Amino acid sequence: MSERRCFIAGNWKMYLTTTEGVRLAQELRNLLTQVRKVDIGVFPSALLLSAVAKKLEESNIVVGAQNAYAKGFGAFTGENSASQLKDAGAAWCLVGHSERRKIFGETDADCNRKIKELHGEGVNVIFCLGETIEEREAGTTFKVLERQLRVGLEGLKAPFPADLVLAYEPVWAIGTGRNATPDQVEEVHCWIRDWLKERFGATVGEALRIQYGGSVKPENAAQLLRVKNVDGALVGGASLKADSFVAIVKAAL
Ligand code: 13P
Repeated sequence: MSERRCFIAGNWKMYLTTTEGVRLAQELRNLLTQVRKVDIGVFPSALLLSAVAKKLEESNIVVGAQNAYAKGFGAFTGENSASQLKDAGAAWCLVGHSERRKIFGETDADCNRKIKELHGEGVNVIFCLGETIEEREAGTTFKVLERQLRVGLEGLKAPFPADLVLAYEPVWAIGTGRNATPDQVEEVHCWIRDWLKERFGATVGEALRIQYGGSVKPENAAQLLRVKNVDGALVGGASLKADSFVAIVKAAL
């Protein structure tokens, strides 16, 4: 049995106003107050961070941002630095979400710079990886994941200055209602685990957590979370409603 604590994180994407986000945070706080065995986090849009973080102060729910710029400060109109996000209440930040990679053209090297900047500020990272349907069908899933991991984590050495979590999110399973099967998830997570052990040594590789993301819902959460080497979930749509997110957290208990 692994000692890794399960981490269920809700990526709110570009949904919810501050009022709605604060209301959801309060509901989650009330409903999940007894949960001690699982780590729980919410990742609202940067605009909501301060208010949501305030609502979740001294609770068992951590707060993270969805993106950070790779530089500490400067003339980068429209961007947010790791230190600004931390100041607003983000203890965590997503890096390399497929929507950032695909829509905003973020490269593996960008991810690497962001992870280093965030770690420099003491902000924990969930580093997202995953192949597109074309890449899977072309049989290049592991080649793509290898590149994302190698370049994204280049120069990083254990022990890390802040927590590092990996999230395997096959792009074809995000927002499509089509989740990967437990066999597909197991195959990829085992491969990622082996890569991590090779790269960082057995102890660190064994301790790093690997979440699964892509159409996780109350109906499939227990089955996915039971898979070997799945240490939690990164939840999109189902994290926007208290009852469905709570059901997923409870499936991890
Ligand atoms: P869905 O759960 O809506 O498929 O989104 C997954 C995701 O992108 C989480 O980061």
